[in-house]
Amino acid sequence: MSESTNDIVEVMRTCIAMRHLKPDEVPEEMIIDVVRAATYASNPGNSQNWRFIVVRDRARKERLASHVRATLGTRFAGEPTGDESRDKMMAGARRLVEGFAEVPVWIFVVGINGYPPQAPNEAFVWSTVYPASQNLVLAARSMGLGTTFTTFHFLAQEAFRAELEIPDNAHIGTAIAMGFPEKKFASVNRRPVGDVIRWETYS
Ligand SMILES: Cc1cc2nc3c(=O)[nH]c(=O)nc-3n(C[C@H](O)[C@H](O)[C@H](O)COP(=O)(O)O)c2cc1C
Repeated sequence: MSESTNDIVEVMRTCIAMRHLKPDEVPEEMIIDVVRAATYASNPGNSQNWRFIVVRDRARKERLASHVRATLGTRFAGEPTGDESRDKMMAGARRLVEGFAEVPVWIFVVGINGYPPQAPNEAFVWSTVYPASQNLVLAARSMGLGTTFTTFHFLAQEAFRAELEIPDNAHIGTAIAMGFPEKKFASVNRRPVGDVIRWETYS
């Protein structure tokens, strides 16, 4: 499977959560290109109420990691369930927690609660961050970079907000780990489209 490709559907089909990342530094130009692609996303009224906080500093990553570990404790130390794909996913997720500070780049996609301007509605924060985040991971994949969406910031919301100096009117939407992949990109495993498509009505 090719490591970098401009075939957009192939990019989507092989954009797996890449929890195994090499420690190698990601060139700054690549990071900027990935974030620029994220800003091409659709967003409410073109308000562009997003910020992309790129964290590479080792000490900052260590501090964020310690907050995650303090909250998770032994929650990830569970026995295998026997469901192979779930166990693999959990092992990867655990690895990401343990190696939080080793992840070369963390990108926090932040949404500002500012749309519509006369009566900001928090729902628009999420419709701002998710299309941009998806653009970001697809652009990264097309350049041969692996990413994983995470929800670690949910676990230590206040500590993350303080560490990243997030103002009161903004929310961390996604926390994306990024780096060169240690494993090969592979096909995502999804239900057949025939199971989920409905013509004209739901039933
Ligand atoms: C909003 C969001 C949050 C996620 N949070 C995590 C996470 O905290 N840890 C993790 O390992 N994967 C996380 N994932 C990745 C999903 O688990 C993954 O996409 C799913 O299992 C399907 O696997 P695939 O994308 O490799 O096909 C998250 C995905 C999304 C969209």
